[in-house]
Amino acid sequence: MPPATPPAFDAVCIGLNVVDILVRLPNEVHRGEKHEVSDLLVQGGAPAGNAACVLAALGARTGFLGHFGRNTLSQVARDELTQRGVRADFFIETTDARPGVATVEIDASGDRTVFYNLNGYRRVSSTDVPADLAVRTRLVLVDGYETEGALVALEQARAAGTLSVLDLEAGDPAILRRLLALGTDAILPLGGARQLTGKTEPADVLHELGSATAAQLVVTDGAAGCWALTPDGVIHQPAFSINPLDTTGCGDAFHGAYAFALLAGWALPQRLEFSAYIASRVALNLGGRSALPTCDMLRREESSLFTTALRRSLTDLLTLQAGALECPAGCPR
Ligand SMILES: Nc1ncnc2c1ncn2[C@@H]1O[C@H](COP(=O)(O)OP(=O)(O)OP(=O)(O)O)[C@@H](O)[C@H]1O
Ligand SMILES: [Mg+2]
Repeated sequence: MPPATPPAFDAVCIGLNVVDILVRLPNEVHRGEKHEVSDLLVQGGAPAGNAACVLAALGARTGFLGHFGRNTLSQVARDELTQRGVRADFFIETTDARPGVATVEIDASGDRTVFYNLNGYRRVSSTDVPADLAVRTRLVLVDGYETEGALVALEQARAAGTLSVLDLEAGDPAILRRLLALGTDAILPLGGARQLTGKTEPADVLHELGSATAAQLVVTDGAAGCWALTPDGVIHQPAFSINPLDTTGCGDAFHGAYAFALLAGWALPQRLEFSAYIASRVALNLGGRSALPTCDMLRREESSLFTTALRRSLTDLLTLQAGALECPAGCPR
């Protein structure tokens, strides 16, 4: 038998395809009047797309699977991914398809108000997922919004022994539980996980979810950090202390960074610390993709920020020693 071809991708992300229009509101807003603002940005958004950009910025060979049409919003969504290094191999050209569009208003206290619209949006169907997806990539990352595509991709991944990272914020509980049962690693915001389980405390939420899946489970709660279920109990990773400007995309970045660390073969505590660090960098700028860390930036980062264990893992990775990802051509490292 000829040797199997190694996967050409490190990660393929499947999820809602959205363009965000973000604005930081002035201290005083007078409804019905015009305001000039200093921070207004049009940017690709949503969990899987943002996570794909995080992975690509770190040098992982990353794809995004979704529909793109012949219209301005699709062109923005396409460019927003490819200019950040996400490859177009899994883009599906569908003339009439349009990404979702969301306005994100960030008020002076940092609170976000989102209005979105999915008119003309084309969902990822089961037949849109290539039959060989899970052997072309080392990992699939899915959100809980494109569930039909996600289910097929996760079934394939499970059969092929491919890693899978789930970002389940909200949705039909029965479907979310089907997705959870298939994944290798699932990270949920605590609010959504509370709704799904009816439990309140992070440890209770994790134990309830853990009774129905073998996936590595993590719940996140903004500046309060995250919790993960281990055979020895629940561990907590604090958030990095920062002055947040806009927390849009922190959760998405957490997932992308976690996927990267999983591919690098790091232990759970280092995966969580690294993800918390990358997520915290995202909150320093407007939008979820504005200044994503590259390996070069990691190399220059103040190493006292990290625990000894993460510092060691990063050093190994950055010098391409044991456990490192293959450094792809054009990798920003
Ligand atoms: N204000 C903050 N300061 C530092 N880190 C943060 C902050 N907000 C979020 N993070 C980091 O990002 C992780 C994920 O954030 P969060 O729990 O808000 O995800 P989410 O609800 O999925 O967010 P998103 O709206 O981006 O999808 C947190 O566990 C934390 O490490
Ligand atoms: Mg999220």
